[in-house]
Amino acid sequence: MTSPAGAARAPFPVADRVGRFNYAIRNIVAEARALEASGRRVRYLNIGDPVAFGFQTPPPMIAAVERALRDGHNGYGPSVGILPARQSIAGELTRRGFPVSPDRVVVTAGTSEAIELALGALVDPGGEVLVPVPTYPLYTAVLARLDAEARFYRLDAAQGWMPDLDHLRSLITPRTRAIVVIDPNNPTGAVYPPAVRRALIELAETHRLVLLADEVYGDVAYAGPVDPIGSLAPDAPIISCSSLSKGYLAPGWRTGWLAVGRSPLLDPVLAAVQKLADARLCSSVPMQHAIVAAIDGDRSHQAAFRAALHERAVLTTRRMNAIDGISCVEPQAAFYAMPKVALPPGRTDVDYVLGLLRATGVLCVYGSGFNTAAGDGFFRIVFLAPPAELDEMYGAIATFTDRFLHA
Ligand SMILES: Cc1ncc(COP(=O)(O)O)c(C=O)c1O
Repeated sequence: MTSPAGAARAPFPVADRVGRFNYAIRNIVAEARALEASGRRVRYLNIGDPVAFGFQTPPPMIAAVERALRDGHNGYGPSVGILPARQSIAGELTRRGFPVSPDRVVVTAGTSEAIELALGALVDPGGEVLVPVPTYPLYTAVLARLDAEARFYRLDAAQGWMPDLDHLRSLITPRTRAIVVIDPNNPTGAVYPPAVRRALIELAETHRLVLLADEVYGDVAYAGPVDPIGSLAPDAPIISCSSLSKGYLAPGWRTGWLAVGRSPLLDPVLAAVQKLADARLCSSVPMQHAIVAAIDGDRSHQAAFRAALHERAVLTTRRMNAIDGISCVEPQAAFYAMPKVALPPGRTDVDYVLGLLRATGVLCVYGSGFNTAAGDGFFRIVFLAPPAELDEMYGAIATFTDRFLHA
């Protein structure tokens, strides 16, 4: 069949779902690259990668991967992951109060794939999932791919970024399948107290929803590791997801896992996750060999990492709150702060963040990239750079903000 010459040259159309999400954390880099091309220096405070800022992957983990490569572990592995890795993950979760057996663990390409497999197993087209806002944008992206819908429940900056439980409850419909809980949280740095965690579990149980627990920052709360939410209710319908990316400083390895709670009500979900996992063969096998070294080996780097992050969190909050027009809740975990600038009418968080980039070379991410309203004036800072550099950048933010607000 021939087509008219013009049609033959038309670009191929892409699926609508691609237009249904944005990944601002990476999209915004295009603006920064353009600035760099014009000869300006850009400081990247946009992506949460500790390795990019000099924090080092523990050597025993690297040695374990090297050994695996040399020992010939270069073929496909079991789709659920190698048994020793699953034993370590199950052992760790069990020690920390969420008893799971290795056969309820699936090793994945990071928390990201764990989330994708879990949501893929749970949600049909048209299904709804309760997702926090400000959100981590992967959830919107995965749900767009599933032709499903994210319903955003509010995290409230005025309440230390705690979830607004009444708002969450009001969003539940017969189509709701799951509640996503990110604790400790990106982008807010909040850690939820037991009462809030219990209330979230109770909502899930009452409304027969699966609680999808994104626990990738569990080891990087400044007061010490946070136990999995499932430790409060081991029989509740909970799926816990985490990885080597943050607490074990190996984000580029794309190695993570999910663990399905022991409730028999979750057995079909586990089987569905395993079936989806079969179809993608396995996650990277040599990297799986580092999971035992990471979890059961020397974890002294974690205390040092937490202390380094705490120092930066305190500095960030102090410097932000000293700027006229900016307020910032002090993070309790991870490496993110979500300050709010009191925008003049008609201006957006994108105006502020792009203005900051062009004036100072400092790249943050606008809150609307995490689905907050553009007029609310939130922006996210990744504070992994050395404190002296952060201090200097915060000086630049202060000068710019004064000009932006009083121009
Ligand atoms: C809340 C949250 N979930 C998941 C991820 C993805 O983690 P992973 O590298 O394990 O896929 C991130 C990464 O920044 C995150 O902040």
